[in-house]
Amino acid sequence: MSQVHSQPRTRLVMGNWKMHGSLAENAALLADLAAGQGRGGATELAVTVPFPYLAQVREALADTPLSWGAQDVSVHERGAYTGEVSAAMLADFGCTWVLCGHSERRALHGESSALVAAKAAAALAAGLTPVVCVGETLSDRDAGDAECVIGDQLEPVLALGAEALSRLVIAYEPVWAIGTGRTASPEQAQAIHALIRAALGKSGAANTRVLYGGSVKATNAAALFAQPDIDGALVGGASLVAEEFLNIAAAVA
Ligand code: PGA
Repeated sequence: MSQVHSQPRTRLVMGNWKMHGSLAENAALLADLAAGQGRGGATELAVTVPFPYLAQVREALADTPLSWGAQDVSVHERGAYTGEVSAAMLADFGCTWVLCGHSERRALHGESSALVAAKAAAALAAGLTPVVCVGETLSDRDAGDAECVIGDQLEPVLALGAEALSRLVIAYEPVWAIGTGRTASPEQAQAIHALIRAALGKSGAANTRVLYGGSVKATNAAALFAQPDIDGALVGGASLVAEEFLNIAAAVA
């Protein structure tokens, strides 16, 4: 285990705006984030936004250390895929990040773990950094299957190999904690993060960052970030309020 924790990993706090925002709301939020980002110290700050607002975040964050990206990507390179956006397009536009396999996409759009891993591979091939989301439902947890479900979701991602794994980020987001106000306890989260870290370690990528997501707020962030295998947060609702998001970043620093 000592080797697993041997290299410091830069903390990352990433906002997931989901399908929220308007040009006017975003302008105010981005201005506040740009003005307050220093509070996060060395912690990296990023936002993932709906496709139509990528142009706005690119411009608003151009002279700041904040980075930005998209919330989904096509598995296909190009072609007759109406409504899809390719990894090359996102990279061409200047995106750094893309979420892959958020639980809302797994649940509402039927994304399988194999598809999610293929999306991550497409993102990597284009030079993007995928943030691959995994997490169990409440019924999985109640049935004692959380570890098994996470293992199954990770399997095709681990199969991408050490080099790919070293260039992506994993986000553990228990589905029962997303948008519910019910966060995993730091110990519950750490237990799954340790499992993910061990799996990454076995695949030669012990230093890959693993974020926690699910009702992260300024009030619970410090206790979560005190856990050895939690390298930051993927933040939904609280990322829409600049003060709250910046206070989460400050809790990590
Ligand atoms: P939440 O969402 O912070 O609103 O729970 C997290 C996420 O879905 O990424």
